[in-house]
Amino acid sequence: MSLFKKVDELRSEFKQALASSPALSDLELLKQYYLGRKGILNDLFKQIRDIEPARKGEFGNLVNKLKQDVQESIDTLMVGQKSGAGDSAGIDVSLPGVLYQRGNIHPLEQTLRDIKSIFHRLGFAVAEGPEIETQWRNFDALNFPPEHPARDMQDTFFLQNGSVLRTHTSPVQIRLMLEDQPPIRSIMPGRVYRNEAIDAGHYCLFHQVEGLYVDEHVTHGELKATLELFCREYFGENVKLRFRPSFFPFTEPSNEVDVSCFLCNGKGCRVCKQTGWLEIMGCGMVDPNVFSSVGYDSEKYTGYAFGMGVERIAMLKYGINDIRLFFENDVRFLRQF
Ligand code: PHE
Repeated sequence: MSLFKKVDELRSEFKQALASSPALSDLELLKQYYLGRKGILNDLFKQIRDIEPARKGEFGNLVNKLKQDVQESIDTLMVGQKSGAGDSAGIDVSLPGVLYQRGNIHPLEQTLRDIKSIFHRLGFAVAEGPEIETQWRNFDALNFPPEHPARDMQDTFFLQNGSVLRTHTSPVQIRLMLEDQPPIRSIMPGRVYRNEAIDAGHYCLFHQVEGLYVDEHVTHGELKATLELFCREYFGENVKLRFRPSFFPFTEPSNEVDVSCFLCNGKGCRVCKQTGWLEIMGCGMVDPNVFSSVGYDSEKYTGYAFGMGVERIAMLKYGINDIRLFFENDVRFLRQF
């Protein structure tokens, strides 16, 4: 049989194969058989050497055309089969529906929103500052003496140009006071950085919410009342507060604030380490030295400041035992909120 005739024959054979409405798996086989690397059409191509030179081109074109037609027919039928054309509706109504995953709010963001909303009702504005700060705003203006251990390389990330990654949100106090005259009543949420060993309780970055109220006649009693109100709103009506004396260079007097453990109601449990109390923030009356660094008259104005760790508060509220979970963004963790 001439090779030209062979091409014609293959074409009609292929037409017949399609006439029996092949299933998807049959189409795969046909494709292999005709178009595969070792398929029949490639084989035919190789036999071009047996064609007389004058007709080689004609033969090549014929085989190529057949190859193209086979490819097109098979592709069209395959697409049709895959999209289900052929059965009446093209839809399998017994398949389960597609589950759309809705995102939810990160527990830190939720905690931050709750804190902001309580202070908003108490008349506090919200201010923010940059995460890269001058040493002057992060330390000097806040009355840290030059040799203070908190400046140590252990705790602070120093940048090459002499700036630092802020170690707390307190430098935003300085920014606010340099910008405006009293009264100032603001909270300042944001990220802070510490060069500490990472473990379940410590991470190289975390979030704080700073608070500052400066005006004439601001008292320590007002500070206590404000924080008490905040804690009752956030942790629950029955929570008790305890102010312990403490030290911060930028407040005098300074306090550490504990709330009664809301898990065991102060009886003592694993979370409060059997003490019945949970430490939640630092606070105090603004040190007159801070007022002089921003040019405020410390005879005329007084003020209070406080600072709380957002992760710590969220961990207590939701019973989270590892701070690293907030930053890993494992959806199995995040979905629980
Ligand atoms: N900046 C302090 C800290 O990071 C917290 C604080 C803020 C204490 C304001 C008193 C007043 O630990």
